[in-house]
Amino acid sequence: MTEHDLFSPFRIKHFTFRNRIGVAPMTRMSSPAHSVPRQDVLDFLVRRAENGAAIVYTEALVTDYESAQGYPGQARLLTQRQIDAWKPVTEALRRAGAVSIMQMFHCGRMAWPEVNPAGRSIAPSPLSPESLNTLTGAPYPLPETMSRFDIRHVIQGFAETARGAVEAGFDGIEVHGAHGYLISQFLSAYSNQRTDAYGGSAENRYRFASEVIHAVRDVVPEDRLLTFRISNWGIADMEVSLFSGKDEYQGVIERLSREPIDAISELSMVISAIRDCSDSALQATVASGLLIS
Ligand SMILES: Cc1cc2nc3c(=O)[nH]c(=O)nc-3n(C[C@H](O)[C@H](O)[C@H](O)COP(=O)(O)O)c2cc1C
Repeated sequence: MTEHDLFSPFRIKHFTFRNRIGVAPMTRMSSPAHSVPRQDVLDFLVRRAENGAAIVYTEALVTDYESAQGYPGQARLLTQRQIDAWKPVTEALRRAGAVSIMQMFHCGRMAWPEVNPAGRSIAPSPLSPESLNTLTGAPYPLPETMSRFDIRHVIQGFAETARGAVEAGFDGIEVHGAHGYLISQFLSAYSNQRTDAYGGSAENRYRFASEVIHAVRDVVPEDRLLTFRISNWGIADMEVSLFSGKDEYQGVIERLSREPIDAISELSMVISAIRDCSDSALQATVASGLLIS
């Protein structure tokens, strides 16, 4: 990428991004009370926009009060207090000329039960990561297999958080399907050994991601962006390839490219790998507005 590319604008839908520079989604554990980030953290986001960033992501917000949280002090966007706290931030980001995106996730087997009101850890299958939780230094607890109720409940958490983001005035919503968190756990045979409609074949393992996307799209108006983040690696057991190879990863990207989303968010090292491949659907997805972190 040349300097010219870096500072050139581009468009997705009716949104013009004034350059290719942005604030990546970064978990900050900065919400001391009510799942609302500290004011200095909110001010930091606005300052980056005032200094020229074209796109500003929130940290990954957790999607429910039950089992989604993986780190202490994470934010949510479900209660009116939380929605009202973000409204001045999105307004300030818009005034400063940046596109604002709320990212959300459920940590699944990487949740930390002690910080979840329900004290649960749930996942597609009862398998915990092999590596230790870097924050606690302890093994991750064995998660409970998600029941149909859990699946519906978690999907509703994504949809309600998206609804909160729309009311708070965000330009876009990102579903965090990467880094070995819950959606990624469903996608990968490494963590998904279910034998029902959500496990087994690549199509079945994709089902949960698709249901989340559709439930979220239903509450996100067409004039907002909906993006999806994906990766082939996870924060825990980082050395493991979550997909069996290029074909499987390409298959997931192809499925995503048929979903009602506006862009796929990826890490640049994988983007290079994708660009090397000759598949046209995949390249169209890349060309249609990939957001580079
Ligand atoms: C402290 C920290 C927290 C992060 N939290 C998130 C997160 O909440 N969601 C996410 O998708 N990526 C997260 N990431 C990954 C970043 O978004 C980004 O993709 C990564 O740091 C690579 O970009 P870089 O080379 O510019 O650092 C985090 C990274 C860091 C360093």
